Amino acid sequence: MPSAHRTAPASGIDDDDATWWRQAAVYQIYPRSFADADSDGVGDIPGITSRVPYLATLGIDAVWLSPFYPSALADGGYDVADYRNVDPRLGTLADFDTMLAALHANGIRVVVDIVPNHTSDLHPWFQDALAAGPGSPARDRYIFRDGVGDEPPTDWVSLFGGSAWERAADGQWYLHNFAVQQPDLNWANADVRADFVRTLRFWSDRGVDGFRIDVAHMLTKDLSGPLPTQAQLDALPRNGTHPTVDRDDVHEVYAEWRAVFNSYTPPRTAVAEAWVDRSRIPLYASPESLGQAFNFELLQADFDARQFRRVVTENLELAEASASSTTWVLSNHDVVRHATRYGLPHPERSADDLPLRKHGTDWLLSGGVEPELDRERGLRRARAASLFVLGLPGSAYLYQGEELGLHEVADIDDAERQDPTFFRSAGLDMGRDGCRVPLPWTSDGPSFGFGSRHAHLPQPRWFGDASVEAQENDLHSTLTLYRRALALRHELQADEELEWIETGREDVLHYVRPNGWRVVTNFGTTEFALTESQVQEDHVALASSETPFGHVPGESTVWLRPA
Ligand code: NOJ
Repeated sequence: MPSAHRTAPASGIDDDDATWWRQAAVYQIYPRSFADADSDGVGDIPGITSRVPYLATLGIDAVWLSPFYPSALADGGYDVADYRNVDPRLGTLADFDTMLAALHANGIRVVVDIVPNHTSDLHPWFQDALAAGPGSPARDRYIFRDGVGDEPPTDWVSLFGGSAWERAADGQWYLHNFAVQQPDLNWANADVRADFVRTLRFWSDRGVDGFRIDVAHMLTKDLSGPLPTQAQLDALPRNGTHPTVDRDDVHEVYAEWRAVFNSYTPPRTAVAEAWVDRSRIPLYASPESLGQAFNFELLQADFDARQFRRVVTENLELAEASASSTTWVLSNHDVVRHATRYGLPHPERSADDLPLRKHGTDWLLSGGVEPELDRERGLRRARAASLFVLGLPGSAYLYQGEELGLHEVADIDDAERQDPTFFRSAGLDMGRDGCRVPLPWTSDGPSFGFGSRHAHLPQPRWFGDASVEAQENDLHSTLTLYRRALALRHELQADEELEWIETGREDVLHYVRPNGWRVVTNFGTTEFALTESQVQEDHVALASSETPFGHVPGESTVWLRPA
């Protein structure tokens, strides 16, 4: 492809580096909960700009912004009413440009979230579809069907609970795999395809470096024959021909997008949120498709050496098979924060825990986490797991607040909750609000420095001690640990390889990177003694807990630098 578009050179960003993403540390910002510049209770784009010095000091390579587009917030912004604009409550396009320039000037790339499976019900297209009536071209952009008598077309269940069909005023039903306010688009429709290309170009032309693709495995559907029941759908193999999930033909869409990405210098990147069988991940991660895919397996793993080693080994092989690099995720805006997951008693989990909203959240059932949560242990393990992951080859996706060691906020009143998963499950699923509470920047003040007034989700009292201000100058804080790890990561990163060193203990993992850096994680509770040669030849560059000479304490990680 010709290099039609080249963004204006901005200091700090190397336009010739087409592989920056392969081992990047990418920090996820959930904009409504990051920093609130106009103090209306909701975080905004100028708030992000005001915190660029913080992000630069943290030492990340890129930020990924969850949706900031106009939205009625039926699903925290994943119900997009206008893909090429900024929600007026969050700022303007000019504010976006200012933020982008400030991030780029500090060498931080910007990835934005694209939500192509569904729009908001307030999107003009959906409003047109409702007005235009059955059989119209406007309705063909979505998935409308006649019901069976007064019943929906099928018994399909939405991923957020309840029926996946909602009735329009004229009696037809539309499909929504998520909330009622998120009608699924029809990807067989040419307007839909053309419009997303326009959106990708719109943000790429503004200088955005990459895209995170929401529910990348569900866009295309084959609903041509008689519609199956939910039980029949569940029983069908997911091998590329399933009517609604992980169809091979979705990669025709991504091949078109790839041509768009590659028409920029450097090529725009993309990472797929694809909840598919591991064997099918390389299809999304291949250079002809999106180029990288999230690996969510550590979200489902316990703090357990055997599970971590298996996940690392298998995912490095997988990434190699697709010529991509792998990704590591311990927390994001959909799951219980990892400090809390690791501080809870071992959960009972079943194989069908994979769907996105379930992992973790069911551990919070009945009464919240507080009675059972061992906060100190959770944090100790989280710090160890984070250092383990930050030493690995591949890119690390960090979620805002994990650098503060934040725990989940479990005690939110029902009346203050926002997540549709809570409401559609009649409160059975506590939902995802607990990891989306606005960040504490200062030790006190009306919203702990998030803004100068209230925050849109209630912050607990303990946020003060976890704030940036409280941790900033503390050598032992989690913030200091992340800053040091992210700075050293550039030294530690080498070829995307690692070698496992046997430790003689099932609960201790030890890997070495090609340039000699070593990472030792003790998942158990009894101290692990380093070998004589490790003690002689390497020295501890960083440790997640206080480290007695020559030893790795329980539930801790050390990074050893070659002499
Ligand atoms: C995945 C996003 O991460 C989640 O927050 C959202 O609710 C669903 N996709 C639907 O867009």
